[in-house]
Formats: sequence, structure tokens, C-alpha cells
Amino acid sequence: MFAMKEAIIGNIKITNPVCLAPMAGTSSVTFRGICHEFGSAYAPTELVSARSIVYNGLDRSYRYMKIDPEHEGITCIQLFGCDPSDFDHAVKTICNDPELGKVDIIDINMGCPVPKVVKTGSGSGLMKEPKLAADIVKATVRAAEEFGKPVTVKTRIGFTAFTEESCDFVKALAAAGAASICVHGRTATQMYGGKADMEAVAKMREAVRAYKLAFFANGDIRDVDSARRALEITGADGLMIGRASMGNPWIFRQIIAGINGENLPETPTALQRCDMLLRELEGTVSQIGEATAVKEMRSVMPHYISGLPQSAAVKVRLCGASTVEEVRQILDDCREIWA
Ligand SMILES: Cc1cc2nc3c(=O)[nH]c(=O)nc-3n(C[C@H](O)[C@H](O)[C@H](O)COP(=O)(O)O)c2cc1C
Repeated sequence: MFAMKEAIIGNIKITNPVCLAPMAGTSSVTFRGICHEFGSAYAPTELVSARSIVYNGLDRSYRYMKIDPEHEGITCIQLFGCDPSDFDHAVKTICNDPELGKVDIIDINMGCPVPKVVKTGSGSGLMKEPKLAADIVKATVRAAEEFGKPVTVKTRIGFTAFTEESCDFVKALAAAGAASICVHGRTATQMYGGKADMEAVAKMREAVRAYKLAFFANGDIRDVDSARRALEITGADGLMIGRASMGNPWIFRQIIAGINGENLPETPTALQRCDMLLRELEGTVSQIGEATAVKEMRSVMPHYISGLPQSAAVKVRLCGASTVEEVRQILDDCREIWA
């Protein structure tokens, strides 16, 4: 019988290591809390600029770094940048803050393919600069060590292609002290297109097997079968799930049960999906206010109702809503059809 192993990040034990992947605009503190309730072991925040913390302090990025240990369990803040001294400064600033200092893990983004980020040499741009990438890990580990926090890295299988250098890249990160590495099975130039290459992820996993670190695989995991396949092919300790969790926080308990050979929990009903949409929306409103929350959740709300009768028309209506009351009304109009 196949069962999930434990993953160990620094001195943090992660049982059933199936985690929500960081996603800008989606993995808010509210959504991370909801996903944790359904089994996500932990979830990094979306990426935050280390340099912005150096120049502007915490205020401007605080919203994106907000953590909620009570509802999230293990917490993790993700930083991006291209200068080791920025990471040193940012980590110390975060760890000295009374709230953010409670964070358990610091994650470094070495996978973002967005041109604005890559242009500065950050995100996946660091895959082209392995020595600098390792220096960033070293500086971050040194700064975080003082506060007892492990440092992790999320990256991809290469910049334009998977090569031997991709394996050398993760080896350099491991040697520099990364406590965990997550590899998304796409190159940076693929962005989110094509298919995740789990064979390439497996080779990168093998490359760091001699190091004491947790290894996570990521990319196109959307159900029990794809999760099991990813674990079998890559030999990873854990998985990160991105897009398939949008509007579907239940996916974590499904996958964990499936992998552990337990009975699969019921899939949520249409009405439960509506209720969860409202719960995420209301939670987000409490964090950032109604106008911003409803606007920002326009990209997320349609996922909750995907595949339901008349969902195309309802999605258009949801995207035009600007208050919680409007969203509630739109869903109420559909409840009878969906019941
Ligand atoms: C809208 C969106 C935003 C993302 N933002 C981040 C981010 O802030 N940090 C990061 O490391 N990865 C980010 N990613 C990448 C995801 O974490 C993940 O690696 C990718 O979506 C592949 O996994 P999936 O196939 O399960 O979605 C983002 C992906 C999407 C779709």
C-alpha cells in the first residue's frame, strides 16, 4: 500500500505533505487558512520583493505577507530578489516584526517567469546565475538561522530547457543550505503552457538525494491519479498544488485520502461550493475591505462554479459584481437550479 511519507523542513515535521502552491492573487491568507482546513500542510505567501522591504520597510508589502498561524498551521513567507544583501535585510526585518516574526519558513522564489521579474535577474532569472542563486540562499540561511527559521526554494526545471545544468543548479542550492526545494516541472519560457515534465523533476530530485532536505514536486497535479503519478515518478517527499486548488480547496483532502488508500471523501455539492465562495470572499473582505476584495476575487470566483449548469453566464455576472451583496444575490438566483 502506497502512503504519504513525512517531510522534514529544518526541524519542522510535515505530515501528509500536500501543500497549496504560492499563487499571486490567489493564495491569500484567507484561502491558505481554508486550504489548511482541508489538509494543505502549509502554503507559502505569494512572492514579495526583498528589495521593496529594504527601501520601503514592511508597510507596502504587509498585506501580501500577512500570516495567520492559528488557521494556517505552519506558515511561510516567499521573497524574490537578486541581491543577497536584500535578502539578509528583508529576513531580519520580517523576523523582528512582532507578527511576521512568527513565520515558520522563509521561501525564495527562483521560478517566477514574469518578464518584469526576470528582467531584474530575480525569479527564474536566477536559474541563469547559479553562483548568485547559491549566494542568495547562503545569505538568507545565515540571516534566518539567527531566528531559527529554515529556508526553502521554489524553482523550475530550467530556463529554456531541462539540462544537466538544471541538476547542478539544485545541487548548488542544496549545498548552500536550502532545507527544502520545490521544482515545478516546466521551464521558465514555457510559463504555464505545455505539460509539466515529471521525468525532469525526478532527475533533479535524484541530484539532491545525498542532501538532507525535503523535495517537493509541482505542476499539473489535479487529482489523485496525477498526484500518485507525480510521487511515483519523482520520488518526491511532497507535492505542491496550484491551479487545481482554485475554487477547490477540497482537493487536498481528496488527494491525501487517495494516496493513503483511504475512502475518498464526498465531492462538494454545488451549494457547498457557493457557500465556500462566499466564505472566501467574506474572509478576504475582512482583510482588505469590500471594494478591493470583490475586485481581486473576480479571477477566483468563477472557479468555484465551474462546470455547473449555466456557469458561463453566471461567471460573467460574478465578474461584474462590486459588492458582497451583489455576489450573494447572483448565487441566490442560481441556488434553485443547482440544488
Ligand atoms: C496566477 C498564478 C500566480 C502564481 N504566483 C506565484 C508566486 O507568487 N510564487 C511562486 O513561486 N509561484 C507562483 N505561481 C506558480 C505556482 O506556484 C505553480 O508553480 C504553477 O502554477 C504550477 O503548478 P500547477 O500546475 O499546480 O498550477 C503562480 C501561478 C499562477 C497560475
